[in-house]
Amino acid sequence: MARQTWGSRFGIIMAVAGSAIGLGNFLRFPVQAAGNGGGAFMIPYFISLLLLGIPLMWIEWTLGRYGGGFGHGTAPGIFHTMWQKNRFIKYFGIIGIFGPMVIFIYYTYIESWTLAYSYFSIKSAYWGCTDQSSMQAFLKAYQGLDGKGGCNFNPTAYFFFLITFIINLWVIYYGIRGGIEKLCKIALPVLFLIGIVITARVFMLGAPDAAQPAWNVKEGLGFLWNPQWQSLLSAKVWLAAAGQIFFTLSVGIGVILTYASYLKKKDDVVLSGLTSVSMNEMAEVVLGGSIVIPAAFAFFGPVGISEIAKSGAFNLGFVTMPVIFQKIPFGSLFGSLWFILLFIAGVTSSISLSQPVIAFLEDEFSLSRKKAVYILGIAAFILCQPAVLFLGKGVLNDLDFWGGTFCLVLFATIETLLFGWVFGMDKAWEEIHHGADLEVPKIYKFIIKYVTPVFLLIILGAWFYQEWIPTIFLSGVLPENKPYIIGIRLILLFLFMTLAVLVKIAWRKRKKELEARS
Ligand code: ALA
Repeated sequence: MARQTWGSRFGIIMAVAGSAIGLGNFLRFPVQAAGNGGGAFMIPYFISLLLLGIPLMWIEWTLGRYGGGFGHGTAPGIFHTMWQKNRFIKYFGIIGIFGPMVIFIYYTYIESWTLAYSYFSIKSAYWGCTDQSSMQAFLKAYQGLDGKGGCNFNPTAYFFFLITFIINLWVIYYGIRGGIEKLCKIALPVLFLIGIVITARVFMLGAPDAAQPAWNVKEGLGFLWNPQWQSLLSAKVWLAAAGQIFFTLSVGIGVILTYASYLKKKDDVVLSGLTSVSMNEMAEVVLGGSIVIPAAFAFFGPVGISEIAKSGAFNLGFVTMPVIFQKIPFGSLFGSLWFILLFIAGVTSSISLSQPVIAFLEDEFSLSRKKAVYILGIAAFILCQPAVLFLGKGVLNDLDFWGGTFCLVLFATIETLLFGWVFGMDKAWEEIHHGADLEVPKIYKFIIKYVTPVFLLIILGAWFYQEWIPTIFLSGVLPENKPYIIGIRLILLFLFMTLAVLVKIAWRKRKKELEARS
């Protein structure tokens, strides 16, 4: 069966940018920047971009295109092709299917909140919840966290989750060109357009409270961007910046590898990769940095904003912003635009998270796309349930730790070492430049071989020390939540083992086919 291909260069750039530009750009980034030194955060942020983000982006585009040439769109096959003598390397590649699947199962649920809130905004459903605490209560009730029983089931939230889930499956059902590319080619320009409209609206706010002239958008931008240089001495700030780069660019997950596997051998990866990174940075730093924090500052002032920024990304997006929309003319319209923006950002990311499983089933088991989508649909639907029904038990946070933190760094370290050391830097350099429209600066030969892996190993070590040990031993988890967290970890273990068995079966099958042919 011939593998699918992208229809155009514009299409794949939009798809990769769509994967990168997500909820992380508009909610996670401003909170991270505000909480980690403001303008000073941008120093470790840009250093991480240059030493981790951009090299990893090139590595994944190159490895994906290389693997695609051998009929492999996921890491087990790609890693095996690169290091055929090693029998175990394909099992390390499982992280590149497992990780995105884990993110997919909670990300889709959060994405469904944005769809619900765009509807609520059009209907002015939360109008009347005019302060933070009543809006918080509205969100909690929506999430089923209002204290009634153990299971956080709210039929409305479940309904929006179902719609979101079906939209995702529907897009991937139509495949790379007919589904993902078609959607992203329209969705990304629309996303930028809405982002610009909302940013312009925020800039027009000025000082909305006449009694508080210092509470204005300009001061809000100052709050976000004025550097607190002493924060650069904190390791936490550097780790936060590196973590944000991973998450926002969707590198180290496995999805770019899969997307790039549908390129043709002569397709450029250098300029295309860089273009998608630039689009992501534009959406993150320019738009993401200009909306929530400056708007919240203008309405709640310096004391209020500090509290709000500390209360996390979800509160900023789903509590503070809805309160603000109720205070501005045409708030219902701007509210729905804001949540539609988030929904578009979310859906173009989540479809990319589901594609590695589809590619794995198609490439390694020769399944039709239809069958692969059915299998993913059933498996993901079952796996989503704990995230939806036990949100209040910390299940979503735990999934985010494994899928959105742990796997990412680990996978990035493995692929970087494979690329620079096993594949070898000379071969890697040649491979990057096949059909390239731009030459990668020579310094990156050194960076990819030495600097990126060392940087990754330092992060891995620091995170192991700071986060993994407490996480593994469930420190900080409430005793009543422990059974749920242990339960979800057993489910994840089961998922990983299932994928390992599938890899084994696929390779045995291939070996038999090769033997029969010779
Ligand atoms: N890169 C995606 C985001 O920023 C996952 O949300």
